[in-house]
Amino acid sequence: MPASITRNLVTGGAGFVGSHLIDRLMQAGEEVICLDNFFTGRKQNVAQWHNHPNFELIRHDVTDPIRLEVDRIWHLACPASPVHYQFNPIKTAKTSFLGTYNMLGLARRVGARLLLASTSEVYGDPLVHPQPESYRGNVNTHGIRACYDEGKRVAETLCFDYQRMHGTEIRIARIFNTYGPRMLPDDGRVVSNFIVQALRGEPLTLYGDGLQTRSFCYVDDLVEGLIRLMNGEHTGPINLGNPGEFTIRQLAERVRDRINPSLELICEPLPEDDPLQRQPVIDLARQQLGWEPGISLDQGLEPTIADFRQRLIDP
Ligand SMILES: NC(=O)c1ccc[n+]([C@@H]2O[C@H](COP(=O)([O-])OP(=O)(O)OC[C@H]3O[C@@H](n4cnc5c(N)ncnc54)[C@H](O)[C@@H]3O)[C@@H](O)[C@H]2O)c1
Repeated sequence: MPASITRNLVTGGAGFVGSHLIDRLMQAGEEVICLDNFFTGRKQNVAQWHNHPNFELIRHDVTDPIRLEVDRIWHLACPASPVHYQFNPIKTAKTSFLGTYNMLGLARRVGARLLLASTSEVYGDPLVHPQPESYRGNVNTHGIRACYDEGKRVAETLCFDYQRMHGTEIRIARIFNTYGPRMLPDDGRVVSNFIVQALRGEPLTLYGDGLQTRSFCYVDDLVEGLIRLMNGEHTGPINLGNPGEFTIRQLAERVRDRINPSLELICEPLPEDDPLQRQPVIDLARQQLGWEPGISLDQGLEPTIADFRQRLIDP
């Protein structure tokens, strides 16, 4: 294998974002090791690369150390949706802390650059709107989301301490709500929830009055941002998300109108610590990475709904 081919390790590579990232890296002719414990990831998501000579799949849990020779570590391993990260919150905190610690140890040993998939959840229920990277957040340290939010916060801290103490090259992406094909139907995230309910002919469930807002980034846009961040010189943390803000009710209406306009919208109580507003400031990504999302919600819903339809209705 010529030395010029970049060797990538993608932790959480069989998951939603990781598998789209792997598609891009493989299409660019790079080498990819996909590492996953398959908690929320599926082999199916990377099945298209199984027999490719540049691709390897390893079942491994990032809470255990591993030795590999790689140039770049894309550290995505961590359940991302509340249903999954609250299933075993202690394991989630371990995955964030120990997983990041182990991957930073590997990066240090082999001189690899590590990109951490952090999250807008580090801003908690924000008191500043929209959220720039300089905002330090409003996280409830003992709420049911803390295992994830605080886990990612300490993961960011570890990255910066490895950079300061050992000169490890790090990149930190704060990812905002992302959607697209290959999301799990049962993951409780709002886009997948609405699409699945509409395809099943059920009423669409809004939590609270549905007036809380979110910004939704299509996965291809996000992956482009991650690649630019990894390739560039800016360490971050850097927000990657779509600043187009929608209320949850607007999203529900758009999904319903595309699938079955006769369906009802029903309201249920808001879960604990659910943030009321979330919208990224992406000036830094624009300046430092020349990046901004180009895919509108309407454009992105199309392939997402088609993928769910194919998996749920004509598998
Ligand atoms: N999708 C989003 O909207 C979003 C938003 C913010 C941050 N992120 C971050 O991006 C990353 C990917 O998210 P996603 O949406 O693809 O979620 P996902 O659940 O689809 O992917 C996570 C992957 O990590 C794997 N994994 C979980 N724990 C592991 C462990 N201990 N060892 C090895 N593998 C493990 C899972 O099996 C899965 O394949 C996560 O770190 C998440 O926190 C995602």
